Amino acid sequence: MKLKLKLKLIVVLLFSISHLISVSSWKKEEFRSCNETPFCKRARSRTPHHSNLIASDVTIRDGDLTAKLITPTPIDGNHNSSSNSSSDSSSPPLILSLSVYQGGILRMKIDEDPSHNPPKKRFQVPDVILPDFEISKKIWLQRYSTDAGSGSSSFVVYLSDGYEAVVSNDPFEVFVRERGGGGRRVLSFNSHGLFDFEKLRKKEEGEEWEERFRSHTDSRPFGPQSISFDVSFHGADFVYGIPEHATSLALKPTKGPGIESEPYRLFNLDVFEYLAESPFGLYGSIPFMLSHGSAHGTSGFFWLNAAEMQIDVLGSGWDDAGEDANQEKRKRIDTVWMSEAGIVDAFFFIGPEPKDVVKQYASVTGTSAMPQLFATGYHQCRWNYRDEEDVKNVDAKFDQHDIPYDVLWLDIEHTDGKRYFTWDRALFPNPEEMQKDLASRGRRMVTIVDPHIKRDDKYHIHKEASENGYYVKDASGDKDYDGWCWPGSSSYIDMVNPEIRSWWADKFAYTEYVGSTPSLYIWNDMNEPSVFNGPEVTMPRDAIHYGNIEHRELHNAYGYYFHMATSEGLLKREGGKDRPFVLSRAIFPGTQRYGTVWTGDNTAEWEQLRVSVPMILTLGITGITFSGADVGGFFGNPDTELLVRWYQVAAYLPFFRGHAHHDTKRREPWLFGEHNTELMRDAIRVRYTFLPYFYTLFREANVTGVPVARPLWMEFPHDEATFNNDEAFMVGNGLLVQGVYTQHAKEVTVCLPRDHTWYDLKTGTAYKGGRAQKMEVTDADIPVFQRSGTIIPRKDRFRRSTVQMENDPYTLVIAVDSSGGAEGEVYIDDGKSYEFQKGGYIHRRFIFSDGKLISVNLNVASSSSSSQGTSFYSDCTIERIILLGYSSSSKPPKSARIEPTNRVADIELGPLQIRSGVRSAVLTIRKPNVRVSDDWTIKLL
Ligand SMILES: *[C@@H]1O[C@H](CO)[C@@H](O)[C@H](O)[C@H]1NC(C)=O
Ligand SMILES: *[C@@H]1O[C@H](CO)[C@@H](O)[C@H](O)[C@H]1NC(C)=O
Ligand SMILES: *[C@@H]1O[C@H](CO)[C@@H](O)[C@H](O)[C@H]1NC(C)=O
Repeated sequence: MKLKLKLKLIVVLLFSISHLISVSSWKKEEFRSCNETPFCKRARSRTPHHSNLIASDVTIRDGDLTAKLITPTPIDGNHNSSSNSSSDSSSPPLILSLSVYQGGILRMKIDEDPSHNPPKKRFQVPDVILPDFEISKKIWLQRYSTDAGSGSSSFVVYLSDGYEAVVSNDPFEVFVRERGGGGRRVLSFNSHGLFDFEKLRKKEEGEEWEERFRSHTDSRPFGPQSISFDVSFHGADFVYGIPEHATSLALKPTKGPGIESEPYRLFNLDVFEYLAESPFGLYGSIPFMLSHGSAHGTSGFFWLNAAEMQIDVLGSGWDDAGEDANQEKRKRIDTVWMSEAGIVDAFFFIGPEPKDVVKQYASVTGTSAMPQLFATGYHQCRWNYRDEEDVKNVDAKFDQHDIPYDVLWLDIEHTDGKRYFTWDRALFPNPEEMQKDLASRGRRMVTIVDPHIKRDDKYHIHKEASENGYYVKDASGDKDYDGWCWPGSSSYIDMVNPEIRSWWADKFAYTEYVGSTPSLYIWNDMNEPSVFNGPEVTMPRDAIHYGNIEHRELHNAYGYYFHMATSEGLLKREGGKDRPFVLSRAIFPGTQRYGTVWTGDNTAEWEQLRVSVPMILTLGITGITFSGADVGGFFGNPDTELLVRWYQVAAYLPFFRGHAHHDTKRREPWLFGEHNTELMRDAIRVRYTFLPYFYTLFREANVTGVPVARPLWMEFPHDEATFNNDEAFMVGNGLLVQGVYTQHAKEVTVCLPRDHTWYDLKTGTAYKGGRAQKMEVTDADIPVFQRSGTIIPRKDRFRRSTVQMENDPYTLVIAVDSSGGAEGEVYIDDGKSYEFQKGGYIHRRFIFSDGKLISVNLNVASSSSSSQGTSFYSDCTIERIILLGYSSSSKPPKSARIEPTNRVADIELGPLQIRSGVRSAVLTIRKPNVRVSDDWTIKLL
């Protein structure tokens, strides 16, 4: 959450009179534009062919191709790379290194040459790249060629059977292309000569390095050190990714003929009432962009760098390529990447399928952690549930109204004066009992723990942190940085230091966090970090971290380290046996390994419901699958219809939590009359029926990196009509969800992807894909379809939480394709521990063809006789199998034989959903009662 207006006013008056105007909504002038950001302004004003670097001294050693990037001396006209003349020029060279990793991933680093003793070592972000990735390195120089005419040479490096990378020395350029044949390009770096690297140097006489923004001064003791370059995505129709922005899925150009917008900014900030359509940077930063097009497929580019970044997507014609541009040129998107500090540490992903690129990115930064089952249910939050009585009432109301939910959340007001790890004992005298009471009904609690620590000598966390020197220091380097946040004067734990993270993690022990119990989990807010009186509401860039790192160099990773330390704390408190649940607002590459994310402080407006979908899809394709938006909108009071629609859409998105600002009216689902209660109950119940499917998809994301909620083009990469669609999305490969984002909607246009039949979830009605169709909608639900060729597991009985569903039987819904076949999976484990990593899980594939359904074991560990593995049993059975689109040549089947028991089950017409307004009858195998964990075959007779 962000400033309450009253408090904000006080803060404003205390610290900066110039903030006075900003009291109502997003205020542009509180934040720097590119023009007010000198490095961005410099980079943006550069024109093509700005760079005159050439690559020399190319060598291959220890699996790396290295080269020096040098600036030729003006008299040296022929740029001869193998002569020494130019490397003797006054400007020190840069060192380039290229490595190839498993999966054909190309990594390129560019940094200053240490042998020239730059004034400072530039920051490289640790703890993001997986150790397993680092060791999968290999490189083979394939050939070296010199173009006799120009004296230019190329070094070709093998990436995979289909692709190779090329380093051209003069002018310096790196690109990835298809091998053989036409050698079409996929990705290229510095093809427009916009590469610029400001080397650290001594201040010149009379030079001014300080920068001012509003009332703040940045001392900038190391002067200019920014990096910028161009990257081209060949064969691309659209580019996507680089969260976090509230904007469309396909990124609009920011610069070019007739386009003048801010670049996409990546700078983690606590943005008050963000706009629904803006390139402005929000709470998190993932500098990973994907492209997709009908010509190449998908490719990706990732720059590991934690300083402020700005990215331009250039509109066609930006470089005056004009009409005569060839086919290849038109199918290309050029981008410019600019960062204030750090080094170039860039990764090129060749795809070519969308799922290949997300897997390649996941192999570098990790897949998402396997969530606990409870976390995939519905969460109820509010700033604030006042006291124990309030908690009890809200919990009881869910039961009274038969609405399932799993977690009740407490925001900052539960603490003793915003001292985290404490309780306001007047409001919460018995926190353990409160949690145990919730736990007795299978429910959990989440409390908030933020990174700002109240500077109060009687507060044990502050005492230890200040005595041990665990705080971030101010620009002087030896005084604790002191900023203003919820508790007033605060300091910020320096989470970059592993020793400090370990100390922090210990604070989650039950003996340290008094009043916590095993059913309590954590929420990290304000970890950008938010500093009310800091420049742009964050920490000054010249603050100093452990290891003499300037805050500017690691700003975007600060929240990541805090999230990591908190997650480690929950892991530690149960001896590594319980999967942590930690929600974070700030994000960075790798966040997916530590927990869940939400899109911050949105607003109760229709446009914000609409933009939440592309925001969540974007997070998913950039590694962070477990994300969601505050249902209803954080600020303001949603009208009832908006609130209902929000539940209906969010029920299909990975993280599902209702949350609201302090100053809003209560909006628990039962407060809007019987009819609306029923609609919201229905939406939440639908989510619970699909939990077996969601959990299976979370496991797929955990193993492969493919997200739970997917843009349509990820599943239909050859259907161009899907590339730009962000109003609909896929849950796994089986469900298509079409959101409704307008008031009083009577119909919506649905574009169902071609070559498939789509079955309406409620009626079973079949629709042919491949054309836009208008469909009627009522307030009862939004259009959702099951794709032909899939089998989806559900649990259709209505319970009050995930725990209570544990032993419920399954329903399988089979939607057959044109050849009469379908496939699907179910993954089941204990929902909480790490036993699944030792084989303690059930994983089945269901295959339906020729009127026969078989269940195949996918758990390799359980089928081998290895004594190492643990096993996981479930007595759950399958109680119904629904057949959509099945037509045998003769008349409908009447019964089914079950092997190996030889039992016969009836087939008759039954409801598509147990409880649903629409009563349509579909072919149903009644009570096959096979166990979900067993091998079996069911043959239609
Ligand atoms: C370049 O410099 C190296 C070491 O300084 C020297 O051994 C080599 O002969 C030089 N080559 C040319 C072409 O001048
Ligand atoms: C570059 O310089 C080297 C050594 O000075 C020489 O052998 C070579 O022929 C030159 N190449 C070109 C293209 O001028
Ligand atoms: C899956 O999740 C677990 C637990 O969160 C994590 O340790 C593991 O690295 C993830 N990836 C795979 C492939 O299991």
